[in-house]
Amino acid sequence: MRVRIALTVNDEAREALVPVHKTLLEVLREDLGLTGTKHGCELGECGTCTVLVDGEPVLSSPSAGTAPPAFS
Ligand code: FES
Repeated sequence: MRVRIALTVNDEAREALVPVHKTLLEVLREDLGLTGTKHGCELGECGTCTVLVDGEPVLSSPSAGTAPPAFS
């Protein structure tokens, strides 16, 4: 199943049709081509995948028991 999402990234409106299981990290890197967001542990421990959502730092890969903010 895919969902269409709309988000603003770096002050630019973007849309993507993405599988529901994708993380925000995967959408940013694979669907929007924004490879500045990096993979790390993907366990919520290192902070490498941190992005700002409404000015607040959040992890863009899943961490224990949390959903990425774009899909929650
Ligand atoms: S990749 Fe380590 S916390 Fe996200």
